[in-house]
Amino acid sequence: MAEVMAYSKHYPICRGLLRPLTFIHSRECDSAGWSSSVARWAHNPEVVGSNPAPATITTMQSMQRSFVRNLDEHDVLKSYPSKFVNEYPHVCYLDGNSLGRLPKKTIDVINSFLTNEWGEKVVEGWTDWVDEAEHTGDLVGRSALGAESGQVLVLDTTSVNLYQLAVAAIKARPGRNTIIIDAANFPTDRYIMQGIAKQFGLNLVVIDNEDPRMSENELVTPELLQKYMSDDVALVSLQVVNYRSGCKQDIKGLTDVVRSYGALLLWDAAHAIGSVELDFDANGVDIAVGCTYKYGNSGPGSPAWMYVNKSVQHELQVPIQGWFAQENQFEMGPDFIRTTGMRGFQIASPSLLGLRSVQVAFQMIEEAGIGEIAKKCQTGTTLMVDLFDEWLEPLGFSLGTPRDPNLRGGHVALKHPDAEIIARAMRSDIKVIPDFRAPDVIRVAISPLTNTYEEIYEGFFRLKELVESKQYLNSTSADSRVR
Ligand SMILES: Cc1ncc(COP(=O)(O)O)c(C=O)c1O
Repeated sequence: MAEVMAYSKHYPICRGLLRPLTFIHSRECDSAGWSSSVARWAHNPEVVGSNPAPATITTMQSMQRSFVRNLDEHDVLKSYPSKFVNEYPHVCYLDGNSLGRLPKKTIDVINSFLTNEWGEKVVEGWTDWVDEAEHTGDLVGRSALGAESGQVLVLDTTSVNLYQLAVAAIKARPGRNTIIIDAANFPTDRYIMQGIAKQFGLNLVVIDNEDPRMSENELVTPELLQKYMSDDVALVSLQVVNYRSGCKQDIKGLTDVVRSYGALLLWDAAHAIGSVELDFDANGVDIAVGCTYKYGNSGPGSPAWMYVNKSVQHELQVPIQGWFAQENQFEMGPDFIRTTGMRGFQIASPSLLGLRSVQVAFQMIEEAGIGEIAKKCQTGTTLMVDLFDEWLEPLGFSLGTPRDPNLRGGHVALKHPDAEIIARAMRSDIKVIPDFRAPDVIRVAISPLTNTYEEIYEGFFRLKELVESKQYLNSTSADSRVR
């Protein structure tokens, strides 16, 4: 037990302790017989739901499983998974970095809003609702972004907010003609920057961090960025945690480089918020955007957020001058006069249903503490890396995520030439939910409030069996546009 305690405490920095146990586990699993095992997971929910050791598991395997269960027992966030809707406990949901689970409380809060607020008050409700984008922004800021009040709004989408702040930044740096982005940036970010470059006749410079000779795991180091900087750069845009590799960029180091050239760095923290400590104020961040539906657990299409540091609010004007940014909004005057503060960045009426979902989820994050959440991500991803070393590397996988827990967020990239069909078979045949990202990555995540460590262990165990047996080659193709 003492060893387990020490392991639990030090696991983020002491990787490899799992190795002797998993080695025996993996040998024993070889003789377990895959197809019967997959049938067990696919068709007998109770087996995993109640977590008994399957009949074929040996003493050493049980020890291994009990070892991971001990991590769960000592997890300070262990009360949280039961606060979320989980209709299928036999499913290992490792995709909370794509869409988080539904908090049970959200159902009550939304129902109450419908009946007691919208239903009852109708238009009178706007007296209470009108400033909720700002109030919810303050909550998101203090719970997850390390931001003091008056710097965050919850509104619109990450894509729209990115466009808004990118154009504002470029206009705030007249005479400069260059935008820098990285090749591994999220598609919407790249497409939006391509459009902005075309719209304003600017040069778009792309850091080729997909080339392993330039960068490891897509990391853009301050030294690498420095090579691209000049006095012609108006804007740099990067992700805090890269959507595919899961690498975490050096927020302060990179912000300092960009600022030293008098340019602005627009961070996309969609894959970071709710999994790492961002400390925007302390890191000197000027502008950032992100979503709330991943580790933020606020629901599909829930409103996004934008952060604008107080020190630059006065110099940034977003291109869409909506009526919510107007100084005396309800005087409905003839000309646009922008108000001060964060409301000056708001376009239009907030989505109240969306905001209420964000409030529930970020109150949970605030209560749990972003420090503990980030620690659980490090422990969970360390567990994944250890399981990868023991079970997956021998099967032809490679790791696309940094091994240093400080250099990653909540997900890990498992690379394999057959990644797309394996990811599909994981969903359909073994009830483990990852996602696939082209060209060869299976992403698996720990969402600290909704996953247990055992769920991760179990998901990796089933994946190992699936690939070892090559059963995934029999999987039928998906009929969805979504991958
Ligand atoms: C890093 C990143 N940026 C931007 C987006 C786009 O978000 P939205 O479709 O909400 O605008 C996503 C979506 O997953 C993302 O992962």
